[in-house]
Amino acid sequence: MKTNPIPTSDALDFDAIAQKALSDMPPETRFGANDAAVIRKNAEALLAAKEPFVKRFYDILFAHPPTREVFEEGERAERERTLGEFFERVVKGPHDDAFFAWLAFVGPVHVVRGVSNPMMLAMLGFLVDFVRENTRSLPDHEALVSAFTRLATSMGSIIAYGYETAWKKALENVIGIPPALTERTVHEEASQLFPLRSHGSR
Ligand code: HEM
Repeated sequence: MKTNPIPTSDALDFDAIAQKALSDMPPETRFGANDAAVIRKNAEALLAAKEPFVKRFYDILFAHPPTREVFEEGERAERERTLGEFFERVVKGPHDDAFFAWLAFVGPVHVVRGVSNPMMLAMLGFLVDFVRENTRSLPDHEALVSAFTRLATSMGSIIAYGYETAWKKALENVIGIPPALTERTVHEEASQLFPLRSHGSR
């Protein structure tokens, strides 16, 4: 199958963001080859659920004032189209490095529109719930729920790390603070502001 190109930006290295986020995750928790295989094996049934998934996703976002506010008038049809493409790509793969780099690109697209991490992570939870509810009759039900749980967790890790990286890059561009200095400063300040440890001594 043809591999999609890795999205590029002068400011952010999407491939590096995705690989760093994934490598921080213990392998048992990370989306892997067996997950990709069970999703592809059940592709037909999953694709049949694409339209209801997209509709329910946006019904939820449009019913909740803080998420409704993100959207411009007349935008819903275009959003449904791109979310449908996302769902298809998740189901069909290929689940290669370019796939994860693309997920790292999708995160900052939302930052630009003022979508918060809580909004993003909430809808990843919805994705897993939707798969659980709609695959009950399939023999691979449990494996599918596990695969989508690891997918949602991997995506959430990439989105959260991409968000953090975008902030550091913005501080570097606007105030000239190198990302490594931001990291050290935040860590030192956090130790002062929140000297919290559950056990052990400093
Ligand atoms: C599971 C979480 C989500 C996924 C997987 C997802 C997926 C996507 C994808 C694939 C795109 C198109 C990116 C592109 O190629 O340009 C997109 C765009 C967009 N999404 Fe989401 N989305 C999620 C959550 C949300 C939430 C929670 C909101 C709002 C509250 C939202 C609002 C938008 C908007 C406004 C755009 C258009 C961005 C632009 O101006 O180009 N999304 N989303």
